[in-house]
Amino acid sequence: MRDIKISASLLGSDLSKAGSEAQRALQAGADWIHIDVMDGNFVENISFGAPFQKALKGDMFKDTHLMVSHPDHQIEFFAESGSDLITFHVESQSDVEHTINKIHRAGLMAGLSIKPDTPAEAVFPYLEKLELVLVMTVEPGYGGQGFLTYTVPKITDIRQKALQLNRDIYIQVDGGINPETAPVVINAGADVIVSGTCLFKSENMARTVKLLKGQAAL
Ligand code: DX5
Ligand code: ZN
Repeated sequence: MRDIKISASLLGSDLSKAGSEAQRALQAGADWIHIDVMDGNFVENISFGAPFQKALKGDMFKDTHLMVSHPDHQIEFFAESGSDLITFHVESQSDVEHTINKIHRAGLMAGLSIKPDTPAEAVFPYLEKLELVLVMTVEPGYGGQGFLTYTVPKITDIRQKALQLNRDIYIQVDGGINPETAPVVINAGADVIVSGTCLFKSENMARTVKLLKGQAAL
């Protein structure tokens, strides 16, 4: 198993200073910066788009989570705005294979996400091509929601299927992750933990990163 990575969700940060919030998270030990793109259609909320992402200056791994109805229309914009990884939803309107190919042609890692009520099997046909699967542990659309425990067995199912296929992919979880829920998803097979509210609202961010990675005890 790889080291656990923390992807800091800017949605949970003080957006009036998003750039310095991203740097603060990286200095505290976060590995990636998670950028939640919402279009007011795939989810009811609207967050931010490629120009916002582009404005985040400095060295960082940009983990772009597209919660949009037509992710295939967005790939060039986000590639040009510095994404290292683009994750989109299997429930979107875009053809999955075509969108993965587009992300790869842009030279980026491709991730595929499932909402809480979508079965693990929905990603199985694409595991050979993907670098990451994102299992949503809340309904996409808002930060600060409660963790949905019934999503956990899907993490194990996807890890097992990937192992069968000899695919050493990342499995990311997103939503409601805190020091209590992190060990649950890590034990199930997740290795990239998205954290917004818990991380950015914590008093000691470096300690929270260690707690989420399982490198410190509560
Ligand atoms: C929800 C977003 C998440 C969200 C996680 O739609 O995809 O990335 O910011 O936030 P917390 O950690 O607050 O649940
Ligand atoms: Zn997200």
